[in-house]
Amino acid sequence: MRIFSGIQPSGDIHIGNYLGAIKQWVALQNKVYPVRGGISNKADCIFCIVDWHAITVPYNQTMLQRKIKEVAAIYLAAGLSPEKNIIFVQSQVKEHAELAWLLNTITPLGDLQRMTQFKEKAAKQANVEAGLFNYPVLMAADILLYQTDIVPVGEDQKQHVELTREIARRFNTRFGKTELSSGEVFSLPKAQTLKIGAKIMSLTAPDKKMSKSDKNPQASITLFDSPEQIKKKISSATTDSGHEIKFQPKEKPGISNLLTIYSLFSDKSIKDLEKAFLGKSYQEFKASLSEILIEKLKPFRNKKAELDKSPESIEKILADGALRAQKIAQATMQKVRTSMGLL
Ligand code: TYM
Repeated sequence: MRIFSGIQPSGDIHIGNYLGAIKQWVALQNKVYPVRGGISNKADCIFCIVDWHAITVPYNQTMLQRKIKEVAAIYLAAGLSPEKNIIFVQSQVKEHAELAWLLNTITPLGDLQRMTQFKEKAAKQANVEAGLFNYPVLMAADILLYQTDIVPVGEDQKQHVELTREIARRFNTRFGKTELSSGEVFSLPKAQTLKIGAKIMSLTAPDKKMSKSDKNPQASITLFDSPEQIKKKISSATTDSGHEIKFQPKEKPGISNLLTIYSLFSDKSIKDLEKAFLGKSYQEFKASLSEILIEKLKPFRNKKAELDKSPESIEKILADGALRAQKIAQATMQKVRTSMGLL
């Protein structure tokens, strides 16, 4: 069983990225899957910092270098072990670019044109470059290079993983069983999303998802926010009319989103939280949520301070990860090149 996922080192990583993606990964690194013959196996987990994706919209070069290391620090602070998992930077394994090019040759234009994220991101740019349009093909390369079975992501990435599966199927049909290839070249990956937490909403506009590219800093809690920033953002988060702490996403989207965040950080069920806050005010609920967040995000603030003092330890982990990832990527590329008739 192979698991692959990644985060773009763009904007500030927020609690939506953590709850929808990283928190799942931390659990998956220890998960054991049954295989044939009654034997169980731990899944191979690969977690990438997808820097080539982050340069598909305008960015600042010096900031990018810093962000790449910050995302690595976040992975480690969240509890991902560099021994149990492969943690690496996409641009340090060149096979991602090679496979992306090859997959471009079998991806229909129409499939890329209907990608929701492309349409949303393109609408915000003055100039749209080819890289942004081809972004989902690079993402397919990331996933297929490692013969991935499961891609743990938030709701917004499901469409990209579906497209990846379609590209893999198309490739296997075209190049899989020929005189040059004995069988399927790629495993077919599946997205895995959480039942609760796959789409954390903005604090200021709870009908929109929390997003790294939101211009309003009050809309999200980042993993490095100070206790003061957390308190301020939570106390000014949009709530709903009425005063009950109840999970009713349609009628009370603001409070329901805060309840979801509270539940995922405290590991208490939403039902238990509704009971605990029965008759209490929004203010009391928000004060308690702030305390939980301040405590749970402390490891991220500490790791960032450590990174500021000694960036070398993180660079070493990333270099080791790239070597391990490349071994797997090279084996896949050998199969891909042969099956496509390249030398
Ligand atoms: P990115 O960097 O935008 O987001 C990283 C992860 O966070 C999830 N996420 C959320 N989950 C819950 N609520 C939210 N409000 C929220 N916002 C973001 C995302 O779904 C994602 O899982 N294209 C990807 C990066 C990527 C990738 C890959 C992922 C590139 N190659 C291969 C998996 C496999 C992206 O832009 O994620």
